[in-house]
Amino acid sequence: MMETQDTTTAKGEVSSTTFPPGPKRWWNFLNTMESRKDPLSYYLRLREEYGDIAFFKQGEMPFYVLFDPDDIQRLLEKENKNVTKGEGLDRTKPLLGEGLLTSKGDFHRRQRRLVLPAFHRQRIQGYADVMASYADSYQRKWQDGEVLDISEEMMKLTLQIVGKTLFDRDVSDEASKVGKAVDRLLQGWWLSLLLPQFLFKIVLKLPLPVLRNFQRSIDDLDKLIYQLIQERRESGEDHGDLLSMLLHSVDDEEDNSQMTDQQARDEAMTLFLAGHETTANALTWTFYLLAQHPECEAKLHEELDSVLQGRLPGYDDMANLPYTRMVLSESMRMYPPAWMVGRKSIAPLEFQGYTLPTGSTILTSQYAVHHDERLYPDPWTFDPMRWTPEEKAKRHKFAYFPFGGGIRRCIGEAFAWMEAIVLLASLAQHWKMRLEPNQKVVPQPLITLRPKYGIKMKLERR
Ligand code: HEM
Repeated sequence: MMETQDTTTAKGEVSSTTFPPGPKRWWNFLNTMESRKDPLSYYLRLREEYGDIAFFKQGEMPFYVLFDPDDIQRLLEKENKNVTKGEGLDRTKPLLGEGLLTSKGDFHRRQRRLVLPAFHRQRIQGYADVMASYADSYQRKWQDGEVLDISEEMMKLTLQIVGKTLFDRDVSDEASKVGKAVDRLLQGWWLSLLLPQFLFKIVLKLPLPVLRNFQRSIDDLDKLIYQLIQERRESGEDHGDLLSMLLHSVDDEEDNSQMTDQQARDEAMTLFLAGHETTANALTWTFYLLAQHPECEAKLHEELDSVLQGRLPGYDDMANLPYTRMVLSESMRMYPPAWMVGRKSIAPLEFQGYTLPTGSTILTSQYAVHHDERLYPDPWTFDPMRWTPEEKAKRHKFAYFPFGGGIRRCIGEAFAWMEAIVLLASLAQHWKMRLEPNQKVVPQPLITLRPKYGIKMKLERR
C-alpha cells in the first residue's frame, strides 16, 4: 500500500515523497479515533499489518512509526544530533518547566551534565535503606485478608520515597494533593494533544475549577520547593539528598556556573514526578502478574527467603537477587511503564529505504516491540526465564528499552532498578496478593501505562 505525495521540504522546495505503508489516508479521521481509543492495540496492529515501518496521519499530522530494533537504536542513539524531543511532552511544561524531560538541545545537554552527579552509584546506593524502611513501615500496617488497591498503595509509597530521597523531607501532605492533581492532568493530556499550541495556552487560562485546583496544588508544591532551595542555599549544607546535589552541582565543562533557583525548581519537580509514577506502575503490574503465576511467585519467595532470611534488603543484596530482577524485567517487558517514545527530526533521515523529511514526528512503542513474536516467542506469556544472562545475550540491545536510549535515556534508571528490587523484596517477603473477583484489569496508556480501574487485591500473610 505505497503512497506518494508532494511535500514541502525545510528549504521550501516541493518534492515527491514515497510514504511507508500504513492505513489509507481517507481513514484519517477514523485513525485518529482508533488510535486515541485504544492506542496499544493500534500500534500492535500497525506492526503486524505493515512491518518494521508504518505511516499514518491523525487529522493532518503525519506520524512515522519504527519497530525494528536496529532502527530504534539509530533513532535514539546514533541520530541524536538529528532529532529532538517530540512535542507531546511539551504539554506538561506548565508543570515541569524546562526540566530534563521537556528541555531540548544545548540547554538539555548542560542540565543533564549538572543533574547526572546526583545519580552516581555512590550517591544513590545510600537510598536503598530509606526505600526498605519505608516499605517495611508500609507493610507493617497491612492486615491479613485486607483488600487494597495496589496501584494506589504503590503510588503513595513511591511518592513518599521520592520526597524523602529528593528533599530529605516527609512530603506526604503536599504529595497526595499533587498526586491527585497530576492524575487529572494526565487524564487531560491526550485531549490537550488535539489542540494547537496557541489554543492550549488559552485553555490553560480559562477559569475552570479543575485548572484552578491544579494550579493551587502546583503553587503549594512550588512554595515548598523554593523554601527548601532557599534554606539549602543559606546553610550551604549537603543533606545527602538529590536537591542538595542539584544545588551544589557545577558545570565544569563550560563556565563553572550553577543552576538558578528556577532551574533547580524545574529539575526537582521533574524528578519528583518522573521518579515515582513509573516505578509504582512497574510494581503494580508485577504484583498482578505474580498473582496469575503462582509457580513464579513461589520461586521468587524461595529466593527472598534464602537470601534475606527475614531481614530488610540493602544495596549489597542487589547482586544476590537475580530472580527478583528477572521477574521485574519480564513485568516491564509486558507492561512497560513508558510505553512509547517520540522524536522530531531536524534533518532528513532514512529508515527502511524511506526518506523522512525534516520536521517528521517519529515514534516507536516499547509495548509493541516488547510483544513482537520475532523477538519474544509466545510474547503474551509471562516468563521470567527469558532474562537469564544467556537468553538476554541472544537479543538485540533495543529489543528491550523500557528506559529509552541514547542521550535522553532515563537518568533515574539505576535508582528505579534499586527501588523496584528493594520494594518488591521487602513486600513479597511477607505478603502474597490475590486479585479480587470481578476486578477489571485494563492497561491505560496515558504518559505512563497504568491500570485504568486500579488493581484491587486481597493480602495474604505468608
Ligand atoms: C521503572 C521506572 C522508570 C521507567 C520505566 C522510566 C522510563 C523512562 C524513559 C523511557 C525515559 C526516556 C524518555 C524519552 O526518551 O523520551 C525516561 C526519562 C527520564 N526519566 Fe525515567 N523512568 C523510570 C524511573 C525514573 C526515576 C526513578 C527517575 C528519577 C528519580 C526518572 C527520571 C527521568 C528523567 C529526569 C528523564 C529525562 C531524562 C533526559 O531526557 O535527559 N525516571 N524515563
